[in-house]
Amino acid sequence: MTLQDLVDLKTAALEKAKTAANAEALEAIRIEYLARKGLLPKVMQELKDVAPEERPMFGKTVNELKNELTELIKSKQAEFSAGGATGAAGFDLTQPGQWQGLGTRHPITQITDRITKIFQTLGFTVADGPDIETVWNNFDALNTPADHPSRDEQDTFYLNNGDLMRCHTSPVQVRYMMGHKPPVRIISPGRCYRRDTPDATHSANFHQVEGLFVDENVSLADLKGTLSYFARELMGPDVKIRFRPHFFPFTEPSVEVDFTCHVCGGKGCRVCKNSGWIEILGAGMVDPNVFQAVGYDSSKVTGFAFGMGIERITMILYGIHDIRNLYENDVRFLSQF
Ligand code: PHE
Repeated sequence: MTLQDLVDLKTAALEKAKTAANAEALEAIRIEYLARKGLLPKVMQELKDVAPEERPMFGKTVNELKNELTELIKSKQAEFSAGGATGAAGFDLTQPGQWQGLGTRHPITQITDRITKIFQTLGFTVADGPDIETVWNNFDALNTPADHPSRDEQDTFYLNNGDLMRCHTSPVQVRYMMGHKPPVRIISPGRCYRRDTPDATHSANFHQVEGLFVDENVSLADLKGTLSYFARELMGPDVKIRFRPHFFPFTEPSVEVDFTCHVCGGKGCRVCKNSGWIEILGAGMVDPNVFQAVGYDSSKVTGFAFGMGIERITMILYGIHDIRNLYENDVRFLSQF
């Protein structure tokens, strides 16, 4: 390459940069000339073949080309990003907007919604009730005797006026039946309160979903069918359930319901303490005394009820080991779900 060739190259390069139409074209020119594998480094290598008397001038021209082109590209790039091409100085109308990350729903809300959807497909509707309840709705109407330990001030938060913070969502059954004739098919998700000392599995404030089905000829088999369907929808098609006899004041007979372990599928592992089963919820046939309290004729209707803790199910499904994580509102935790 002669000095003249180099001068021509310089003129062409600067001309190209001057007339570049946008930032992309400019970047292409930068790559063509200035990048490590571009024209300029190649020209530099040819310096040793240039006639000795031309060499200083040649080197000087290469440097000029490099500096002038770099400067030109820089100033034109600034011009482009300042909106020179669009006419709005300092604001490029053609740039895409900046995405502000959306939050996600809280894991408890996500699982509540999932549970709700499953029962909605079976025809259940959602019923609601207040967090502050009367003793009658929370205990008496639910056939809970005056000396039942859950009524103790050690276990339930009472207000000065004698009302209480509901310790389960079961009073919604009572409210609903008082206001509606059978048949009844409701679930009631909501917040509950108990005087528990917080630890990895207890919180004084937690959530339950209660279910209630009342009609003529409702049997324990209907309860089992409903909960089997629920279990499969929640955990997958292979999950099985079992009933264990239990006691609740408001149901007779009462059962505790286990699902086969979601980790080992029932073979036995550390999570299910080798039993193959995980306790998920409480249930039973509505006690006739409850029907009597709300004015239903227990010789005509029967029904089943069930209740489950949403935190517990959330922790099982997401592998969360400490319930307190769910209330600390740490974005690093919450953004994983
Ligand atoms: N209310 C019960 C509890 O809080 C759960 C339950 C609901 C059991 C309905 C049976 C029927 O433990």
